[in-house]
Amino acid sequence: MVMGKDLPQVRDPHRPGGEPERELPYPSSWFFLALSRELTVGRVLTRRLANEDVVLYRTADGRPYAVRPYCPHLGAHFGSGGFVEGRNLVCPFHHFAFAPDGTCAGTPDGRPPRARVEHHTIRERNGFVFGWYAPDGEPPAWDAPETAPPEVCATASWHTEVHAPVQELVENALDYRHLPVVHHVTLKELEAPQAQGPYMHARLRLGPTGPAPLAKFQVDHSFLVAGLGCLRIEHPLPPLGVVVYLWALHTPTGPARTRLQVATACADIRPSRPTAASLLRRPMHRALARTMLRIAVSKVQGDIRIWNAKRYEPRPRLTVGDEAIGLFRHWARQFYPAP
Ligand code: FES
Ligand SMILES: [Fe+2]
Repeated sequence: MVMGKDLPQVRDPHRPGGEPERELPYPSSWFFLALSRELTVGRVLTRRLANEDVVLYRTADGRPYAVRPYCPHLGAHFGSGGFVEGRNLVCPFHHFAFAPDGTCAGTPDGRPPRARVEHHTIRERNGFVFGWYAPDGEPPAWDAPETAPPEVCATASWHTEVHAPVQELVENALDYRHLPVVHHVTLKELEAPQAQGPYMHARLRLGPTGPAPLAKFQVDHSFLVAGLGCLRIEHPLPPLGVVVYLWALHTPTGPARTRLQVATACADIRPSRPTAASLLRRPMHRALARTMLRIAVSKVQGDIRIWNAKRYEPRPRLTVGDEAIGLFRHWARQFYPAP
């Protein structure tokens, strides 16, 4: 892993003590860019990834695209007034139209120049648009994560911006010690974390701390970490016949800045073909997803307070009980360029 000592340091006056950042470079991974439902046909959106703007748009055939923001003609920003016409993205400055392959397909009054816009590689999964990022510009080393059955789509979501590198947010899921302290939950490790290429899996049984009747509500959670951009927690609720999916999606937006998108979905444990009965269950699924989102957002507030003020510790003094963190740090090295 690239550690802090050889990296530029950024001082932020808003951090307690004006502590310099121990900055981590941006890792390679698939990162969340937008919700599918935000990117409706014809819409143009600007998002931030690794300190650069990314312009997203969806063409008339329903396909999403993401490009670098500046027009090769004279540098206008596509996100500032650009629009979609059929399958083309049209620049707001002189109305040059760019085709899905990046080439200039036409101008209002003459031959198109031999210019092209650069596309990002993107994928749409479970109601999310992910974009691939690698510091060296390399193409995707692995495909975007399938973290739930393809028909499952996030129905509730919330986001915020956190002052911490993306790795710190992912590490939180493997930091078992903070669960009772910050989130007031008890835990039992059902399956120790296992690394498999760009993925890590773990299973935990979690329940609230407190008096015996309350502490009985234990739920099994399957954790899947996919690169440093996506954490998915799946927990079945058999009495209701449903499974709840919760995603924490982390996008590095700038130096030590991460957009955290939390989203939820709920689906039948045994999915069947749509029937009148299953359609009637949809409002219940949505209501449950909203409730789970509210709980998750209230829990993550405790983490955000810590992240916004802490510094990245490149050589943490780990102790017994921190094994999952050690394993995570070792696994996470694959997403950074060799020092
Ligand atoms: S700057 Fe885009 S068409 Fe001229
Ligand atoms: Fe946490």
